[in-house]
Amino acid sequence: MNEKIETLKQEISQYAVTNTDELEQYRLRFISRKNVIGDLFSEMKTVAAEERKAMGVRLNDLKNSAQDKFKELIASLEDQQNGQPDDVPDLTLPPIPDSLGSIHPLTQIQNRVVEIFEQMGFNVAEGPEIETDWHNFTALNFPPNHPAREMQDTFFIEKNPDIVLRTHTSSVQVRLMESEKPPIRAIMPGRVYRNEAISARAHCVFHQVEGLYVDRNVSFADLKQTLLHFAKELFGAETKIRLRPSYFPFTEPSAELDIWWGTETEADRRVTKGTGWLEIGGCGMVDPNVLENCGIDSEEFTGFAFGMGFERIAMIKYQIKDLRLFTENDVRFLKQFRAFN
Ligand code: DAH
Repeated sequence: MNEKIETLKQEISQYAVTNTDELEQYRLRFISRKNVIGDLFSEMKTVAAEERKAMGVRLNDLKNSAQDKFKELIASLEDQQNGQPDDVPDLTLPPIPDSLGSIHPLTQIQNRVVEIFEQMGFNVAEGPEIETDWHNFTALNFPPNHPAREMQDTFFIEKNPDIVLRTHTSSVQVRLMESEKPPIRAIMPGRVYRNEAISARAHCVFHQVEGLYVDRNVSFADLKQTLLHFAKELFGAETKIRLRPSYFPFTEPSAELDIWWGTETEADRRVTKGTGWLEIGGCGMVDPNVLENCGIDSEEFTGFAFGMGFERIAMIKYQIKDLRLFTENDVRFLKQFRAFN
């Protein structure tokens, strides 16, 4: 009896069907009123009384597994007929909306700035972020040990004080003037580094764009018109600019570039410290020493240069109050710039 149960168990577990006839044969053999398991139940009489209980349990198990298998066979036959096993996705379900990313606000500003200057005939140039002291300082008329170097808190490489993380994109000016002859008309966007504590208003990594125009007879008036046109394109046709006298070692004369923000509301007065003007960068006429350091004859050529911060421009344009938002990757912040793409 035990052997018979074992054989049937095997038979059931290996059973497979590919059509309804085979299913029906299974049903007749294991499920129908007169099935082989039922026959075994009839044989229980012949089993010794003390084994009967255990045998009954085994027979019931066999009966249950025959019924479970029957359900499985029905399901597998249905799948075969539909041509679809269970794990194929249901293509009739509505799609899950795809959440598209957006262009980072700083990249949007950079793209727009590049576009505006390209329309004025400027090329785009790039240079390395790990720089030599020569390109970052010395050639730009910061003599060794000159206090002007302290205007920019610098990351030095410990083993080699001649190597720095560039503190400004002005280093690319030098590379460009060393490798090309005037006329040179280029903008140089890129990442810069300063040894500063991170706060709402300062960061150790930020982004600038440098501009350089060197040719015969380039004048301060050219500089001013270029910056005015740029500011109107970026901030709107009504925008006014102001050039405020300043000092940079690499330009003479030098100026800070301010744009008019207004003093209408209390908030306007707060952001502009009561003046109505906001600074967005520095500029000036390239110092003759810088031209000479780069192998350009300062008797024959003059040039203007300017530098601006992208974070600063983005903060003004989109009224962002904390610089750290640009690098925190909070989607609630980033999502708001989707409309500007
Ligand atoms: N390099 C300056 C800075 O990072 C910005 C700057 C000022 C660049 C005047 C210029 C310039 O080209 O003419 O603060």
